[in-house]
Amino acid sequence: SAPGALGPDHGYGPDIDHVLLSEEQIRDKIAELAAQVTADYAGKEVLLVGVLKGAVLFMSDFARALQIPTQMEFMAVSSYGSATSSSGVVRILKDLDRDITGKHVLVLEDIIDSGLTLSWLLKNLGGRSPASLEVCALLRKPDAVKVEVPVKYIGFDIPNEFVIGYGLDYAERYRDLPYIGTLKPEVYQ
Ligand code: XMP
Ligand code: MG
Repeated sequence: SAPGALGPDHGYGPDIDHVLLSEEQIRDKIAELAAQVTADYAGKEVLLVGVLKGAVLFMSDFARALQIPTQMEFMAVSSYGSATSSSGVVRILKDLDRDITGKHVLVLEDIIDSGLTLSWLLKNLGGRSPASLEVCALLRKPDAVKVEVPVKYIGFDIPNEFVIGYGLDYAERYRDLPYIGTLKPEVYQ
């Protein structure tokens, strides 16, 4: 392909409808969230729980922006439903490697849509006796208000459209994009 095709869009350029959040906007927001979390957890050690795979890029940047010691765990869950919406029926694909009893757990999520996945996850993790349990989500969609999920840290409230990039996928593609955007309708056909 042409040299230009390997620019910041990783060659996905023709599929992208518009950029919703630029690399710089994401970086600035993460710095803001990290400063808040650093202050709130001063003197404590935090266990970050990243929800695979969507939160991987967020976790990597967020952990580096924090100024407190953190440990990292990952969990993979699958919620039954269509490719673009969830049903609330959740299955653990990969559980945490360690016990979280007495730990200050901060769950990192890429996006909260209906909130069903997170609501299930919080119940599950809450049953393991952590010292504290909070959530930091990079994105939140409007439907999230329907389910009462306590989310302490939110990056951006976004419109109700399907987004990709910065960890978020459509059919496992686009996770590697440095920004968050939407896809042209023909990509879904
Ligand atoms: P719920 O509805 O349970 O769903 O809050 C959260 C999960 O659904 C996926 N999701 C998306 N994935 N772009 C994506 O790539 C989106 O716009 C989107 N909306 C929801 C995602 O896996 C998230 O963890
Ligand atoms: Mg997905």
